[in-house]
Amino acid sequence: MKAPRELWTSKVAFILAAAGSAVGLGNIWRFSYVVGTNGGAAFVIIYLIVIAIIGYPMMVTEVTLGRKAHKNAIGTFKALAPNTPWWIVGALGVLAGFVILSFYSVVAGWAVSYFFKTIGGSLGAGADFGGVFVGHISSAWTPILWHAVFMAVTLGIIAAGVVKGISRSVRILMPALFVLLIILVLRSITLPGAGAGIAFYLRPNFSDLTWQSILGAVGQAFFTLSLGMGCMITYGSYLSDKDDVPDNAAWIVGLDTAVAIIAGFAIFPAVFALGFDPGAGAGLAFITLPAVFAELPAGVLFGAVFFLLLSVAALTSAISLLEVVVAWLIDEYNWTRTKASVIIGLLIFLLGIPASLSLGAVSFNIAGMPFFDFLDFLQESILLPLGGLLTAVFAGHVWTANKTREAANTNRGKIQLGSWYDVLIKYVVPIAIAVVMLFGLIDTFS
Ligand code: PFF
Repeated sequence: MKAPRELWTSKVAFILAAAGSAVGLGNIWRFSYVVGTNGGAAFVIIYLIVIAIIGYPMMVTEVTLGRKAHKNAIGTFKALAPNTPWWIVGALGVLAGFVILSFYSVVAGWAVSYFFKTIGGSLGAGADFGGVFVGHISSAWTPILWHAVFMAVTLGIIAAGVVKGISRSVRILMPALFVLLIILVLRSITLPGAGAGIAFYLRPNFSDLTWQSILGAVGQAFFTLSLGMGCMITYGSYLSDKDDVPDNAAWIVGLDTAVAIIAGFAIFPAVFALGFDPGAGAGLAFITLPAVFAELPAGVLFGAVFFLLLSVAALTSAISLLEVVVAWLIDEYNWTRTKASVIIGLLIFLLGIPASLSLGAVSFNIAGMPFFDFLDFLQESILLPLGGLLTAVFAGHVWTANKTREAANTNRGKIQLGSWYDVLIKYVVPIAIAVVMLFGLIDTFS
C-alpha cells in the first residue's frame, strides 16, 4: 500500500521550505556574477521589475496549481487538463531539475570546500584569492569529490522525506545567513574606495543593457525564485487546501529578493575597493568574499560560518530540485522514495562530472562554451523562461485566469488577487517572456 502524501505541518513550515528553496547559491554566487557581467545597476533594475511583474504572479500561480492538484509537476498538468499534451510543461520542469542540480551541486561543493579552506588558513590576508579559486575549480578530483559529498547528503534528506528534513534546518539557517550578510555589508561598504562599487551597483547606465542581458535578468529571476520548472508546484502540492497562497508567495519573493540585494552590497563595494574586476564571472563571490573576510577581525571565524551557511542554503535549494524529479516518480510510477532518490541522485551526480571537468581539467565545449556554462545557459535562457511562459499560458488561458485566481484566493490571508492578476498572467507575463526570449536568443547567437 502506498503511504499517504505528506503535508507541511504548518504555514511557517511551508514558507521556510519554499524560501529555503528560493534562497540559495542563486542569491549570492549567481546574482553577483550576472550583475557583474551585465553592467551593474541597470541590470538590477530590470531584475527587480521582472520580480514584481513576472516573479510574484508566477509564484502565486505555481503554488496554486500544486495546492489544487496535490500532485508532482507532471501530474498537476495531467490532473488539471486530462488527455491533453500540457503535461509536457511538467516534463520540461523535470528535465530542468536534472540539468540545474547537476551543476548546482558542483558549485555547492565549492562552498563546502571553501569552508575547509578557510579553517585551514589558505585564505588569510595576502592570499592570491583569484589563483586559489581558479586552481580549485580547474583541478580534476577535488571538486568532484565535494560534489559527490553534497549529492549524497541531498539524496539522503530527500530519501527521508521532505517535510521533516527541511523544516528544521531552515528555521535556524535563514536568520543566521541574514545576520552574517549584514556584517559583511558593514565591512564592505566601509573599505576605502568602496564608493565606486556602490555607484556600479546603484547608478544605472541603460546603454549597458542588451537583449541578451535582459533575457539574463528574466532567467535569473526564475532561477532565484525556483520558478518555471515545477518546483513551486511540487512544494505547493504539500499544502493543505486550508493554507493561504497570496501572502505566503509574497513572503517567499520578499525574502529571496532581500537576500540577493543585500548580498550585492556585501560584494560590489569590496570588488572595487580591493581592485577586482566585477565582470570576472563565476568566481566573483568566491574571490571577493574571502578577501573581505581577510580584512575582518576574527575573519577566519566569520568566513567559516559564512561558507557553512552558504552550503546549507545551497542544500535547502538542492533538495527542492531533487524533489521535483523524485515526486514525479513516486506519484506516477509508484517508485518508493528511497529508490527514486538513490537512482536519480546518482544520475545527476554523473551529469555533474563532465560539468565540473569542463572548467579546466579537460576541454569539453558545447555551442562554443564549456559544458558547465552550456548547462547554465540552457536553463537560464531556454528551460526556465519557456517553462514559465507555458505555465502562464496554461493558468491564464487553458485552466483560465478566473479559475486560477479563485483557487489562489481560497482561504487567503491579507492579500487578495484582483483582476490585475488576470491581466498579468494572461497577457503581460507570457508576452514579456516571449519577446525577451526571442530577442535575447537572436542577440546571443548573432
Ligand atoms: N532558487 C535556487 C537558488 O537561487 O539558489 C536555485 C533553484 C532551486 C532553482 C530550485 C530552481 C529550483 F527549482
